[in-house]
Amino acid sequence: MGFIMLSEKMNEPLCQQANRELYSSYLYLSMSYYFESIKMEGFAHWMRLQAGEELVHTMKMLDYVAGSGGRARILAVEAPQSDWGSPLQAFQHVWEHERIVTGLIHALVGVAEEEKDGATGQFLEWYEKEQVEEEESSDEVLNLVKAAGEDIAALAAADKKLGERRFRFPRGFEIFPYSGVKQ
Ligand SMILES: [Fe+2]
Ligand SMILES: [Fe+2]
Repeated sequence: MGFIMLSEKMNEPLCQQANRELYSSYLYLSMSYYFESIKMEGFAHWMRLQAGEELVHTMKMLDYVAGSGGRARILAVEAPQSDWGSPLQAFQHVWEHERIVTGLIHALVGVAEEEKDGATGQFLEWYEKEQVEEEESSDEVLNLVKAAGEDIAALAAADKKLGERRFRFPRGFEIFPYSGVKQ
């Protein structure tokens, strides 16, 4: 298979984006335990799945780097916030965070264009689509929690609804086992 090795100018920003994805996982895991501490178990569950998805995003990107002749490197992850004033504030934070990530993905697509790296550009299309979905779902949950407001029963109903979320790996990609090992 004649592939062109990933350039260093492409390798680094991909590793940095993987780091942001891992930070996202930390952030949502932190939110999950915040919700557990205030006994909102459905919200805690939703955030735990969200953290899992972000780990998938991290490894999918690093696997691409490693599989394209590059070098996948794990960078330091900053500590996320650990408390929020209310569920609404936490979901507002998710909404804002996902918009920031969308901007980062677009910037990364820009690097791929500058580097004339069509393969990476094509690879990043998955992340662009994923961000559209992430923005939609964060919008949806934010609106649900906003609508509940201070109404305890409505908040409990929202908590129950988010507790119904199921985890799905992206088509053709799971983080276990490592793809190089046949099981
Ligand atoms: Fe992500
Ligand atoms: Fe995300």
